[in-house]
This record gives sequence, C-alpha cells and structure tokens, in this order.
Amino acid sequence: MEPADVVLRFLESVGRRSEAEFYLGLFRAEPKEQFAAISVDANVARHAWEAVVLDLKFLAALGLMPVVVLGLFEPTDAEEHGARIRRRLEKGAVAAQLIAVEQSSEPAQLAEAITLLARAGTVPILTFGPPMLALTVEDRFARMGALLAALRTRKLIFLHRPGGLRQKGELVQLANLTTDFSSLQGSKELSRKERAMVTQSRRLILELVPHKLLVAITSPFNLFRELFTTKGAGTLLRRGAVLSRRDGLAGIDRDQLRALLISAFGRPPVDEFFDRPVSQVYVEENLRGAALLLDTPLGAYLTKFAVDREAQGEGMGRDLWALIAADHPTVFWRARAHNPVVAWYDQLCDGMVRLPDWNVYWKGLPSDRIPAAIAFALAQPVDIP
Ligand SMILES: CC(C)(COP(=O)(O)OP(=O)(O)OC[C@H]1O[C@@H](n2cnc3c(N)ncnc32)[C@H](O)[C@@H]1OP(=O)(O)O)[C@@H](O)C(=O)NCCC(=O)NCCS
Repeated sequence: MEPADVVLRFLESVGRRSEAEFYLGLFRAEPKEQFAAISVDANVARHAWEAVVLDLKFLAALGLMPVVVLGLFEPTDAEEHGARIRRRLEKGAVAAQLIAVEQSSEPAQLAEAITLLARAGTVPILTFGPPMLALTVEDRFARMGALLAALRTRKLIFLHRPGGLRQKGELVQLANLTTDFSSLQGSKELSRKERAMVTQSRRLILELVPHKLLVAITSPFNLFRELFTTKGAGTLLRRGAVLSRRDGLAGIDRDQLRALLISAFGRPPVDEFFDRPVSQVYVEENLRGAALLLDTPLGAYLTKFAVDREAQGEGMGRDLWALIAADHPTVFWRARAHNPVVAWYDQLCDGMVRLPDWNVYWKGLPSDRIPAAIAFALAQPVDIP
C-alpha cells in the first residue's frame, strides 16, 4: 500500500475520506514552503518527540514538508532537540536539515533556504537556539512573523502536550482573537505558556503577518486530525470574520455569490435562484461566506447558508449565525439529513423534524406555527439540485 493510502485509511477512521482528500489536494496544490510551520514545544521535544517524527514521516510520504520550528519559547535545548529529530528522520530515510537562526539572520534569506529545502523534499528544521536567548519572546516572534510573511505560510501549528486550550474544563475549538482575547488572557485555566501562545498568535495574525494565517494549538497525537479534517482537533485561533448585512441581493456580485455556492455545495445553483426573493443577506467582506434569509409571516426562513469550502470549519458559520440570531427572534430552515453540518444544527435549534427528503429546524418558533413552518420549508424549490 502507498503511504498516501495508509494515511487516507487512517484519516477515514477519524473523519471523512472526502475531507482528507480535499485537504490533501489543497496542500499539494500550494508551493511546498507554504504548507505549514510546526512549532514544537520544548516539552513535546523532550517527551513526545517520537510522535513528532512519526507525523513528519507521514507528511513527507504525502509530499508535504512543514517547517519545523524549535525554541520559540525556550531556546536552551532547541539545537539538541532539532538534531535528534533530524537523526531519527534520516534513519527513516526522510531528508532533513537544521537551520540555526542567528541574531543576524535575515528573514528573506531564511525563507529562501527553507523554500529550497522544502521544494527538494527535505524537511527544514529551524532552531531558535542559545544565540536567541538574548532576545525576548516578543522579539523571537517578531522574527518568526517576518519569516511566515516571507514564506506565505498557510498555517502555524503549536504542538503542545495538553492539546488545545480549555475553558471550564471543555476544549475551546475556535477562539476569535478579537472578541475572545481578553477572556482568554484573564483565564486562570490557561498556563503561562498558553497565555503567551494566545498573545503571540494575536500579534502574528493581527499585526505581523499581512496574509491570512491560521494558527492552531494541538497535541502531536492529533496533528493529522487537525490538518486533514474540517472540524480540526485542538484550538483554532483566528481573526474574526468581517461581516455585514444587506437588504436583498442588490449590490451583491452575482458571479461571486455563484462561485461561493459552487465552492460550498460542490455544484452550481439553478439560474432561477438569483430571481427568487431574498429579504436579508449577511456576507463576509470578500464574499467567502453568506447567509440569505426571507421574511415570512411565520418568521425568517434561512434559504441559503454557505462558506467557501477552504474556509469551512474556521468559525465563519458561527459568526454569521450569531448575526442572524441577533436580528431574528424566529428562524427556521431545512437541510439534507446526510449533510455533516446537521450535528451543529441539532445544537442550534429549539426543535426539528426528520422527514424523508429534508430535516426541518426551527428556533424561537411558537409551537402553534410549527406545522405551517414545516409545510413552508418543504414547499420551497430546490435551488442547488
Ligand atoms: C454549513 C456552513 C455554512 C457552516 O459554516 P462553517 O464556517 O463551516 O462553520 P463553523 O466553522 O462556524 O462551524 C460551525 C459548526 O459546524 C460544524 N461543521 C462545519 N463544517 C463541518 C463539516 N464539514 N463536518 C462536520 N461539522 C462541520 C463545526 O464543527 C461547528 O460545530 P461545533 O460547534 O459543534 O463544533 C458551511 O460548512 C458550508 O457552507 N457547508 C456547505 C454548504 C451547506 O451544506 N450549507 C448548509 C445547507 S443547509
């Protein structure tokens, strides 16, 4: 069996094969150096480094070369940890090379060296070692930010032994660095290191890196689930989506909306869709997400809910829903039972009914209107056959 098949089989056991294939295709289509940077915490490098080596071997078998970064928080042993990971990778016939960051290192030169290695199928292992002890954590992250900007890295992953962040004992799957920042900073449940991760991630995302950078905190044992499933594993830190509300479709670029629906649903809407009545549209600034609602005497009917395939699972749907729910005391909608998102709808709704073709959901709907709302939802035309 090919290594790619082994990984896909594994992913199938934790998620959905189509998701794994989607992300694999996405990562492989990008320049190799953009795929990801993986910051290995000193604790992980000491006690769980074999899991990191295994992760890297599987990624290399898939043709994916993340930049491994050691010492961002604790430089003392970074070079020794890097050398050990490199030795073990090479024993497993995976080429790897150490790059020691010096005070005089220029981000552009580091980026060039990393690009050459990644494109040649060699795992670049970057060490912020003892020469970096003279710098503060802020300074080391400023250098990291310049490097991620030069590489145009898609995702930075902190491998952290406890996995993602926890609040009230529960894993925080998504944290919005604009709205959730102060509560995370004030949280006694986070360790000092975790608070520093949040602060530095916020600087990277909001100040230091001009392109869209995703940051996740996860355990080395969950890296594949984090990378290859829409739901991810661990905590995804992100800039909140910039959303606005419009009254109707006027002013919305039809081609962009059509492209969004194709990306989200995998197929185009019928032409008549654009002539059907719409009362409000909630859109993300670059039209990477949209929710369309129609006012009815029963309450607001959610006719379309779509997020660009690549951005799904990053929290835009939740942000859109928060706006919809704030504006509309009553919302009802329908979904196909096999849509993976129905598990989320089950949490959002006050009630639902499973019918042969559709599940119908409602929130804030008086019980005497439920039969009429179900009849309304079932009578709607199919926009995306
Ligand atoms: C439905 C949709 C708009 C949600 O937007 P999103 O930005 O992906 O959602 P978020 O990242 O905010 O996540 C919201 C919830 O949906 C879940 N979710 C999103 N995509 C998922 C997927 N592919 N599989 C399983 N769950 C998924 C998230 O896990 C989260 O649930 P949780 O809070 O229980 O963890 C988006 O996934 C989409 O466009 N899907 C394809 C089109 C579609 O089916 N639209 C709805 C038709 S009824």
